[in-house]
Amino acid sequence: MKILTVVGARPQFIKSSMLSKAIQKNPKIQEIIVHTGQHYDDNMSNVFFEQLHLPKPDYYLGVGSDSHGKQTAHMLMELESIMNSVTPNIVLVYGDTNSTLAGSMAAAKLHIPIAHVESGLRSYNKKMPEEINRVITDHLSHWLFCPSQSAAENLKKEGITEGVHVTGDIMYDSVLYFKDLALKQSSILQDLTLFNKSYYLATIHRAENTDQPDRLESILQALGQLKTTVVLPLHPRTKSKIEQFNLNHLIASSNMKVIDPLNYFDMLTIASQTELILTDSGGLQKEAYMLQVPCLTLRDETEWIETLDAGWNQLVGADSKKIVEGVAASHIPQEYPALFGTGNTAHEIMEILIK
Ligand code: UD1
Repeated sequence: MKILTVVGARPQFIKSSMLSKAIQKNPKIQEIIVHTGQHYDDNMSNVFFEQLHLPKPDYYLGVGSDSHGKQTAHMLMELESIMNSVTPNIVLVYGDTNSTLAGSMAAAKLHIPIAHVESGLRSYNKKMPEEINRVITDHLSHWLFCPSQSAAENLKKEGITEGVHVTGDIMYDSVLYFKDLALKQSSILQDLTLFNKSYYLATIHRAENTDQPDRLESILQALGQLKTTVVLPLHPRTKSKIEQFNLNHLIASSNMKVIDPLNYFDMLTIASQTELILTDSGGLQKEAYMLQVPCLTLRDETEWIETLDAGWNQLVGADSKKIVEGVAASHIPQEYPALFGTGNTAHEIMEILIK
């Protein structure tokens, strides 16, 4: 059996690592990996392949950054011709990026069944490019691997009930697999002179925050007001928007440690030892929960509603006052339900695909 895996952005390298390991163990399955090149900086791409021991991609498309239409179209053209020559039995896609969309559209037109990992998430906000990518991908997929029951319920509301499997969250597999190794190998806390539970970690990269000057300004103002040190690894898009909107003075504040994007081991280390995470990233909201760290979500809605219900995550949007109040209100809840499975997701997905 041939599985063609499409990855392209940072979180997809993490999500694919455990399933690729499971595929490699099965001599009857050949995995062909296509890296679209949506993320291409060393610290957004190569470093993840090295740390996660991911197989070198068989194809690298090198599409780079562009408008959504051009970037997706470029990927589609290349993926179609690769799929025609490889003739895979299954195309495997992860999450909700433009690489996910291109992979699923190319496969659907060639009648190749699609397996979608991290299926069923909805923000119900079609202004998010990710929401469009997920809805289309889910409606084209043959196997829909949901991280949680609520994701399966979202699919049901759209009439999708066949091929839906609640297999838990594949990122939990990698957190469990890599956490101890990351803590042993990473020197990020010493490098930044940070002490356990005495700093906050913040990340901002969503277009809805970075591309709207008032939202970006308001978030940065809030972070600058906090008494505790805030570590802010800057996504390249955020960095360039801060410059474009002349907001540099807001990150020069004395409590901020602004750094380059972090590799996976440094991120796991810094995220597991922080007192609080403030983020607009979907992946980091989940990782906060998996690492038992309270989280504030810098968005107006979230796909990870179970983390809100469990009291570990608060939705604060981009409003300075709400962010500061949210920080003051944050606490570690007593209950910690198993929201994202048992860390055996890769194995469960493999069993279903083999069957
Ligand atoms: C993408 C995904 C998002 C995911 C995120 C993870 C889409 C629509 N969005 O967002 O769902 O949460 O990845 O990080 O697919 N850039 C660089 N170097 C890089 C990559 C990007 O400088 O290696 C800069 C470019 O200016 C680029 C911008 O970042 O235009 C945005 O990159 P892009 O891949 O379009 O979207 P992300 O914001 O990373």
